[in-house]
Amino acid sequence: MSKIIIAIDGYAGCGKSTTAKQVAKALNYAYIDTGAMYRAVTLYFQEQQVPLDNVAAIDAALEQIDIRFEANPAQQRNETFLNGRNVSNEIRSLSVSEQVSEVSALPAVRKAMVAQQQRMGQAKGVVMDGRDIGSNVFPEAELKIFMTADLEARARRRQVELQGQNQSASLNQIVENLQKRDFLDTSRAEAPLTQTADAIVIDTTTLTIAEQTDRVLALATQILAKQQTI
Ligand code: DC
Repeated sequence: MSKIIIAIDGYAGCGKSTTAKQVAKALNYAYIDTGAMYRAVTLYFQEQQVPLDNVAAIDAALEQIDIRFEANPAQQRNETFLNGRNVSNEIRSLSVSEQVSEVSALPAVRKAMVAQQQRMGQAKGVVMDGRDIGSNVFPEAELKIFMTADLEARARRRQVELQGQNQSASLNQIVENLQKRDFLDTSRAEAPLTQTADAIVIDTTTLTIAEQTDRVLALATQILAKQQTI
């Protein structure tokens, strides 16, 4: 059976990652969390104190970064490895969240990550979530989803996610972080978050994860069935 690329873009906290992970599992596709890649770069830059206004230092730092994903079936999640170290929890911290939009707006960072994402998806059979997957990484993706949800619903979900990792942040802190990131992610010069004309919008404010997953799976199944008859 032929395989497709499923691009899931949208604001932070809409349930993109959870949905993408479950869709990938149901279709036996690879799941690639591109936000985790930008978060890992941010963590590396923070740890190595890379000055964000020094292009040469950024280029040199990017050369040193190796990001990989590994499935952890026991915990039903993908682990993110930065230069061989499992950073899955650290990259979700508020300090990384506070700086990731700034780091991900840097042209050299985007160029390096997009090239890696395109390599990861070249054989198709992937579900990739992020901000610019349908618009920039895989403009030819067979299925593009654009997820939205109310700000408060998104903040509450992020809070539960952080609590699950024993990290605490007030709802106000999270709302402020989301608003700031929404602004930076949609207004940056390089590949900003935009809804492409061919994307299907899913508002997840009142949906459960199972409902979100079912909607994406139904759309994917339709496309796959159509491809088989061609
Ligand atoms: O999906 P997330 O919230 O973990 O993403 C973290 C940040 O990374 C997000 O605020 C913007 C950036 N990002 C990006 O610029 N492009 C992507 N494809 C994915 C994430």
